[in-house]
Amino acid sequence: MIQLVRGFKDILPEEATVWQYIEQIARDHFGSFGFNEIRPPVLEQAALFRRSIGEHTDIVEKEMYTFPGSKGNLLTLRPEATASVVRAYIQHKLYASDPVQKLYTIGPMFRKERPQKGRYRQFHQINAEVFGIESPYMDAHLIFMLLSFFGKLAVDPLRVHLNSLGCPECRKPYKEAITAALSERAELLCTDCVRRLDKNPLRLLDCKVPGCREEVAHTPGMVDFLCDGCQAHFETVKSGLAAMGVVFQVDPRLVRGLDYYTRTAFEIQTDELGAQSAIAGGGRYDGLVEQLGGPSMPAIGFAVGTDRLAELILSRQDPGLRRPEIFFAAMGEAAWRKSFEWACALSARGIRVEIDFSERSLKALMRRADRLRAQYVLIVGDRELSENTATLRHMASSRQIAVPADGLVKAVMVELRSESQQ
Ligand code: HAM
Repeated sequence: MIQLVRGFKDILPEEATVWQYIEQIARDHFGSFGFNEIRPPVLEQAALFRRSIGEHTDIVEKEMYTFPGSKGNLLTLRPEATASVVRAYIQHKLYASDPVQKLYTIGPMFRKERPQKGRYRQFHQINAEVFGIESPYMDAHLIFMLLSFFGKLAVDPLRVHLNSLGCPECRKPYKEAITAALSERAELLCTDCVRRLDKNPLRLLDCKVPGCREEVAHTPGMVDFLCDGCQAHFETVKSGLAAMGVVFQVDPRLVRGLDYYTRTAFEIQTDELGAQSAIAGGGRYDGLVEQLGGPSMPAIGFAVGTDRLAELILSRQDPGLRRPEIFFAAMGEAAWRKSFEWACALSARGIRVEIDFSERSLKALMRRADRLRAQYVLIVGDRELSENTATLRHMASSRQIAVPADGLVKAVMVELRSESQQ
């Protein structure tokens, strides 16, 4: 039998329900913060990612799915969405009508990483990106939006790691300080880091090799190098977050694995997912729009890892999302005939209905209703048919009422509504 490609996975129906729930809440929640959806394609020119994420990052050096296009150019399955959203913002001159654009996008990303739990080669993100706002209040606003999104999903406690990566001006002396500190101890670094020392010293701070981490722990943090403008920006982000009751820790070595960040960088972590603890990350990228050929335009965004978020929700609770509101226990042809019409009418009104038209005993049907954790069972048997009624049973309390067949749909809706208000 042909099996899945390694690092790729199926999202099975039970999980997919949780995914739909997450995505629906994201759409509603982000919408109330003024965001609109954008849907860029999954395939882009390889150059887009080389120029945005950076030549000397793990993603670009090792993890991209890149292949030749028909015109000899290289094409890449997107490893992240920010570069694509920026490309679309520039290409369609979205800034012309209003430079301020708040956009979100949901979809698959591709990175050829070593697969393990929580790390896949096709994974999914919910991204939010804001263009045209430089104010640090936007940073606090965006981080608050992200955390209140997790709050709506009842996902907590989470750790919020925050740093400022400064601007190109103040980052220069910082890079020099890192290079100076680590060059002396180069023999203790991995071969990748020795190379990075020259090409891209900030990337040393992401290295996961224990020896390198030990060395990096003794290096200075970016926050000690911030220029006045970056320092003031960072202070307002922190005070804005504190005003909203957000608990965070400043992590002076948080640089994140992509080269485009400036000033605010953040990561949301959990202790419940093992090694892959980051469920969201983001930051400012004030230079990227211009760097990719657009106008000079500040920007900030984040991405949530949907796979990890769904795993967290599934591991914590039975979300009960697929629970039928009404389970039909209909026995025999005459009962199916009536129930079929009622079930159609209820589903059309948005009620989650389960009916299987099978030749089964009431006992077997009730067992299935229990297994599916149905809220109500509507019993339609011989007695009900002869009395022109149906029996509506509330499963949690075992309370039963006889509902007249005429006007049944309306009566069931009223019962469900009064139940949901309790
Ligand atoms: P990132 O930190 O590379 O940032 O990815 C964001 C999130 O995607 C991670 O925190 C993680 O939850 C999830 N993720 C990343 N790689 C994998 C993987 N292989 N398997 C499962 N989940 C994964 C970015 O991608 C930036 N574009 C975020 C951003 C948006 N910055 C500004 N705007």
